[in-house]
Amino acid sequence: TGCITFDPGYGNTGACKSAITYMDGEKGILRYRGIPIEQLAEKSTFVETAYLLIVGRLPTSEELTRTSVMLNDFSLVHENMKAFYQNYPPQAHPMGILAAMVNAMRSFYPELTDLDEEMNNTFLRLISKIRTMAAMSYKFSIGQRVTYPQPGLCYCANFLNMMFDNDVVPYHVDQDLVRALNVFWILHADHEQNCSTTAVRVVGSGRVNIYSAISAGISALWGPLHGGANQAVIQMLEKIHKDGMTIDQCIAKARDREDPFRLMGFGHRVYKTYDPRGKIMKKMCDIVLAKVKRDDPLLDIALRLEEAALEDSYFKDKHLYPNVDFYAGIVLRALGIPTNMFTVMFAIGRLPGWIAQWKEDMADPEMKISRPRQIYTGNTVNDYIPIDQRR
Ligand code: CMC
Repeated sequence: TGCITFDPGYGNTGACKSAITYMDGEKGILRYRGIPIEQLAEKSTFVETAYLLIVGRLPTSEELTRTSVMLNDFSLVHENMKAFYQNYPPQAHPMGILAAMVNAMRSFYPELTDLDEEMNNTFLRLISKIRTMAAMSYKFSIGQRVTYPQPGLCYCANFLNMMFDNDVVPYHVDQDLVRALNVFWILHADHEQNCSTTAVRVVGSGRVNIYSAISAGISALWGPLHGGANQAVIQMLEKIHKDGMTIDQCIAKARDREDPFRLMGFGHRVYKTYDPRGKIMKKMCDIVLAKVKRDDPLLDIALRLEEAALEDSYFKDKHLYPNVDFYAGIVLRALGIPTNMFTVMFAIGRLPGWIAQWKEDMADPEMKISRPRQIYTGNTVNDYIPIDQRR
């Protein structure tokens, strides 16, 4: 195999050059276009952060206004797409539906706008419609009439309203919860060459349309080792709560090499310290639970699990710390988001990052179609055996 290097999971391969997101896994640093995630979580909105990632700088107030107006203009989903939702089995996972809907956008909105524009209509259409499509899948799953987007509401408030407003109980938008959702989505907006972003770049490198590349990213994100971890964490905490498992039993199970169980929401390919997003998410649990005036027994389990794991030699030796997903589910539960929609929430948040990375890839003259090699381990030659002689 000559000079081919074996690098399973590409842990040591720089597959592209990128100026979007800076990470230092040893120090626990995350910055979008150089701006620390802590500053963005405190001061920015999700729409502004999306602009920052895609265009490469913060928008002026005119640019931000235009972006918001366009997001409102594009917020409706083609009525014929409703037929898809109506015909999915009621238990269908919303991530599967979302991947299919985003792929279908290529057929419903065939005009792809000019890549040279900093923030083009195709990007805005995607960012706007993904939240309408996500809320629609929830409404269909619970058998309720679809709530349409309202032009007077901002991006995050509109999503909450589309999810929870109904004919019987009108939804009252709470600005603190809107702020919490902004922060949640800012924390998820990009994370350099993670599994789903790599999927977007790899699929996009064949020059397929952007909708299909993003749909591939959504499918990649669904997995429990990636974005699906936020759902898996809550299911794990619920199980510990329901079965009355002790924290020690749980840690012992995670340490047991014979047992495939992993402590979900722990560990990261890049971070060998506390995930900076996890720190902010942990603080948000208290803020959001206080706002909705609820105690969540799962928060107590999560806090005790974290404390025990951080003291445990297995977790210490392997540098396993809480990642963004460990506390994400508790925040989402407090916002009223059902468990099977958690990974959809991640997908909406990650979309600006996927778009920014796809755009960077398309614009880079050095980029080529993704086509890794392999270390071939089979026989190099075998004779064809006629069927009557096979055993
Ligand atoms: N619980 C128990 N052991 C673990 C865990 C865990 N959560 N994570 C890693 N390990 C062990 C693993 O068994 C391995 O041990 P050994 O070296 O003895 O074989 C060692 O730590 C290294 O793990 P790895 O799987 O080789 O590391 P990786 O970089 O390939 O995987 C990971 C990173 C995030 C997939 C992994 O830590 C994991 O499965 N965590 C749980 C799922 C999770 O929370 N995923 C969300 C990641 S953050 C959101 C995102 O951006 O995707």
